[in-house]
Amino acid sequence: MAEYESHTLDVLIIGAGGAGLRAAIEASATGARTALVCKSLLGKAHTVMAEGGVAAALGNVWPEDNWEVHFRDTMRGGKMLNNWRMAQLHAQEAPDRVLELEEWGAVFDRTADGRILQRDFGGHRYARLAHVGDRTGLELLRTCQQRAVSLGIEVFMECKIVRLLTDATGAVNGAVGFWRESGTFVVFGAKSVVIAAGGVGKTWKFTSNSWEGTGDGHALALWAGADMIDMECVQFHPTGMVWPPSARGILVTEGVRGDGGVLRNSDGERFMFNYIPDFYAKETADTIEEGDQWYENKTDFRRPPELLPRDEVARSINSEVKAGRGSPHGGIYLDIASRRSPEYIKRRLPSMYHQFKELADVDITVEAMEIGPTCHYIMGGIRVDADTAATTVPGLFAAGEAAGGMHGANRLGGNSLSDLLVFGRRAGQYAAEHALGRPDDVEIDRTQVDAVVGHALAPFARDGENPYAVHHALQETMQSLVGIIRTESELLEAREALDALEERAAASGVEGHRQFNPGWHLALDLESMLAVARCTTLGAIERKESRGGHTRDDFPGPDPEFAKVNMVTRMHDGAVVVAAEPLPEMPDELKTLFEEAH
Ligand code: FUM
Repeated sequence: MAEYESHTLDVLIIGAGGAGLRAAIEASATGARTALVCKSLLGKAHTVMAEGGVAAALGNVWPEDNWEVHFRDTMRGGKMLNNWRMAQLHAQEAPDRVLELEEWGAVFDRTADGRILQRDFGGHRYARLAHVGDRTGLELLRTCQQRAVSLGIEVFMECKIVRLLTDATGAVNGAVGFWRESGTFVVFGAKSVVIAAGGVGKTWKFTSNSWEGTGDGHALALWAGADMIDMECVQFHPTGMVWPPSARGILVTEGVRGDGGVLRNSDGERFMFNYIPDFYAKETADTIEEGDQWYENKTDFRRPPELLPRDEVARSINSEVKAGRGSPHGGIYLDIASRRSPEYIKRRLPSMYHQFKELADVDITVEAMEIGPTCHYIMGGIRVDADTAATTVPGLFAAGEAAGGMHGANRLGGNSLSDLLVFGRRAGQYAAEHALGRPDDVEIDRTQVDAVVGHALAPFARDGENPYAVHHALQETMQSLVGIIRTESELLEAREALDALEERAAASGVEGHRQFNPGWHLALDLESMLAVARCTTLGAIERKESRGGHTRDDFPGPDPEFAKVNMVTRMHDGAVVVAAEPLPEMPDELKTLFEEAH
């Protein structure tokens, strides 16, 4: 029998980014014994990459703004594939969540009369993003972290969770992991488990995600029997760095465009004017005024075409590069230098100024940036109940990027931070309620634990190829065959390639010992990435249309029939299967919001 350390809890939260922290704060407030476990160090999470702001209809800059407009923008941006109830709760509750952050100490930028300032972002009708320069995610994380630590919530850091545990009824009742430093195992028994483990970006070659973004949360839920929805909907943020190679994929915040930056091709043309879909035509114009007075002088809600939703902008950049009008390193130009003063740029976008200076030796106050799409976010994820964040497996909850539904086929910038606050809080609340309704501590099945430990240690007993080689091949496959633009033949090729990659991964071996062994860690992370890749590819094959973050060259338009279904992936007899299942139908009173707009 395996030796392991164990902890008994009411609520275990896997992932300590914004969603996990917000869930922990809420669960702990109910008196539930709550702990966070994270693969990295506390404070290091993809949440920081939501740089430009948190979307909430506070109405500080545009009093006309309200939750109904935010709801409508979110649904339109998501190409109506969103779970309408999630989008409604999100729009209604986001302002309170932002004000609560402020009460907890977040220091937002201010309007001239001292209220929280809001900036423009793509797809939002009004300037709606509360922000802290271009470091909003960092401030959100810092604030929630302070709060969680001051409440005495236990945080287990540098712990990789390998599998969830289930009881005889199939309900989740804990998790098995190991300490990355020592390689020794740990078991958490918990009446409720919340998955808040973030995204999947490391499955692709060019990504804004750091090493942690390997889809662990998605895979843990999938293996435990949960449904995943719309995993084919992957967001390629239009602006990542393309040069130098060491910086490729690093995020360039949408705040640059929100504050007046424009996109140009190699002819110097503002090409986005050529790509405005009819749907957005009436709301698009080059209206952002020069200078710092924009927020004071606003007269027109229309937005420049650079602020179309991200899927539209990323595809347009892709087309320009393909047509031979790209920059020397395969990107396009993002120019704020000719539009704003150096003082304004340094004040509003300090991290971008610093990032380009340090990493690319480019001064963005005088030169244009070279940028291109980078895999940033997955809209698909674990299927949850909108109100309670409960998954389809009893005892298991999910929030943040790991959960699907909220953003439909495409997420609007800034909606991730508000999403993780709104649904992190709800997941914590309902996970605690579930746990507190069960008086007895869970009983751990040692046989299951032994099986997980045996599985986790298996790479040491194999002498197959290095997991880094398999990871490299997986990233190449996903980037080239399941990227921004997809076709049937390439997707089928990807599915076949995944069969081979799964075999290679299962045979891969690692050398050395268990103490801080990155090769071993990657061998296990690879299992998660392969599971994600499988779900994405199967969903992409079945969704024979183009919608948001899923573009099919062979089906270039949206198909109204596919607007009515989620692509559901789940485990069946040890394999991932896919099925189209109906979306929850929007009630009539919300449908009228769309009729009024058109
Ligand atoms: O561009 C950005 O600042 C990213 C924001 C987001 O993903 O929400």
